[in-house]
Amino acid sequence: MSDHPSPEKILQTGLAFWPAKTLLSAVELGVFTELAQGPQSFDVLRERLGLHPRSARDFLDTLVALGFLKRGSEGYSNAPDADAFLDRQKPSYVGGLLEMANHRLYPFWNNLTDALRTGLPQNESKSGGPGLFDTLYADPARLKEFLHAMSGVSRGSNIAIARAFPWKDYKSYVDVGTAQGDLAVQVAMANPHLIGMGFDLPQVEPIFLDYAKRCGVAGRVTFRPGDFFRDDLPKADVVLMGHILHDWDLPTKKMLVRKAFDALPKGGAFVVYEAIIDDDRSQNAFGLMMSLNMLIETPGGFDFSGRDCSEWMREAGFSSTRVQPLVGPDSMVIGTK
Ligand SMILES: C[S@@+](CC[C@H](N)C(=O)[O-])C[C@H]1O[C@@H](n2cnc3c(N)ncnc32)[C@H](O)[C@@H]1O
Repeated sequence: MSDHPSPEKILQTGLAFWPAKTLLSAVELGVFTELAQGPQSFDVLRERLGLHPRSARDFLDTLVALGFLKRGSEGYSNAPDADAFLDRQKPSYVGGLLEMANHRLYPFWNNLTDALRTGLPQNESKSGGPGLFDTLYADPARLKEFLHAMSGVSRGSNIAIARAFPWKDYKSYVDVGTAQGDLAVQVAMANPHLIGMGFDLPQVEPIFLDYAKRCGVAGRVTFRPGDFFRDDLPKADVVLMGHILHDWDLPTKKMLVRKAFDALPKGGAFVVYEAIIDDDRSQNAFGLMMSLNMLIETPGGFDFSGRDCSEWMREAGFSSTRVQPLVGPDSMVIGTK
């Protein structure tokens, strides 16, 4: 690391939307799903993707230079990561988040400066429209895209929680705000002794049930429709909340923590997992930017540190708390009643 100041990181970060948008357009165009069938020559691929000849080669070679495609004697082919995670036909597809980032976040983040000056969200609600979930859930296609995007965001942590949490000490769990149900499914698949439930708004039910069935756990994992503003949470030995508390303001966060406490037996556990910001707020850049994303998408949401969350849990009556890293920027905060 040279002591001399260098503009390199500044320019890289400032122009990071170039590689980001190139990848988002490649997902939108279906490049990786197309190449999952096998290598294709430039002419065949350009034709199939409907690319104008002017910049088709620049575009595809940029994806090679970024490491998402390979180019050889048979033409272009997917690099291993892209083939595993960006082919729409595969259950491991995480492109749902990128599709949502392309349609929603990329245009909304263009107004970050306004949001920082006004404290107001920059999504559909900016022009007096309904809130995030009402907007998304009014349109079945956007509902599906959002729920799939959540599975993509959370898959790594869901698998880690299914393996790392001491499930042998418990019999039942409920995942509050479960979306498509990837966490509920991963926990059930890795722990055959458990009975699980997903709790979410009624519109989510058919997508959850279809996913649980496709993953072979429909017998042990059920869905409870409800609204956590109006209803008590279903009772269980373990209550989980992933990317829920960050959507809401502080009084609402504390209300949800109290509802989790009330749903648990003595000795039960409350698991909150998010891109938990480090207590010094200087390391987890993704967690901090996720908090900026909550500024863009919600009227009062923000991300938080493990210390913040532990304090809210103790205030609600939890006897002990601990923070445990998961994968990437994610960690879980566990409160025991
Ligand atoms: C950001 S997503 C998190 C999804 C999932 N837990 C994850 O981590 O990937 C928030 C979830 O909260 C659900 N939700 C929003 N408002 C709700 C409410 N009032 N009652 C129940 N669920 C709600 C949404 O439907 C959505 O599935």
